[in-house]
Order: sequence, then C-alpha cells, then structure tokens
Amino acid sequence: MKKILIINGPNLNLLGTREPEVYGKLTLNEIETELKNLAKELKVEIECFQSNHEGEIVDKICNAQNIFDGIVINPAAYTHTSVAIRDALAAVRIPTIEVHISNVYSRDEFRHNSFIAPVSVGQISGLGIKGYLFALQYLSK
Ligand code: DQA
Repeated sequence: MKKILIINGPNLNLLGTREPEVYGKLTLNEIETELKNLAKELKVEIECFQSNHEGEIVDKICNAQNIFDGIVINPAAYTHTSVAIRDALAAVRIPTIEVHISNVYSRDEFRHNSFIAPVSVGQISGLGIKGYLFALQYLSK
C-alpha cells in the first residue's frame, strides 16, 4: 500500500478562523478528515503533519525517505522564503505536489515566487481544499 505524507506549514493550524474569506471555513482537522476518507477509498495510507517551525518540516521531509511514496505539501508562508524546505525535498526525491488553498498569483506579488515549485511534480493553487484531494488522488496512482 502506498504511503503519502501530508504536510501543512505555518498558521494553517488556524484554518477555520484565519481569514475565512481567503482560506474558507473548514478547520485543518476537518480537511484532514476529508483526506483520510479519500485515502480509504483510494486504498492508500496517509500521515498528516502540521508545524509552524521550518526546521521541524525539514526534519519530517528528511525522515520520510524510504518510508513515503509521495508528499502533498502546503508550505504556507515558507513557500516564498524557504531554501531549506526546497533543498530537503530535492534531497529525498519523493514525488511532491505543492498545494495552496488560495490562488497565490492573484494575491500580493511576494506570493508569486515559490522556492518549492521547481522541485515539485506540480503545483495546485486556488482550488480551495480540493487541491489537497486532487494531489492525493494523483500521487496514489
Ligand atoms: C497559502 C498561501 C501562502 O501565500 C500563505 O502564506 C499561506 C497559505 C495558501 O494555502 O493559500 O499561509 O499557502
């Protein structure tokens, strides 16, 4: 059975109350429940991880080597700043999809750059929580 790691970065623990007009009303817990339900249907195993700390996310990616077959990551603000997360993904070479709930290209210019996209299979931006579900579906094949 394939194992997929779902990583959410800083401030995504506040989903539900955080700028609901941008990120919607679902909590991270509710999103993870939807992902777990889909994983059952797809017959894949998932682990969900959230951290507000760059180093913890780097550790999680490094420790995923030889354990996980795919990574779905919403690096949140670290998308636009983190060479360390990019380098960790490049090092482990686990197929990764970058997900953003909002359309980062219709927002502030500083959100238009992603350090993560060049080391990802692809990027989904602006499809709300469906982005996570589509990414899981893709990596489960
Ligand atoms: C985000 C977009 C980022 O620019 C922002 O810093 C986030 C969330 C999204 O899911 O739309 O925290 O990754």
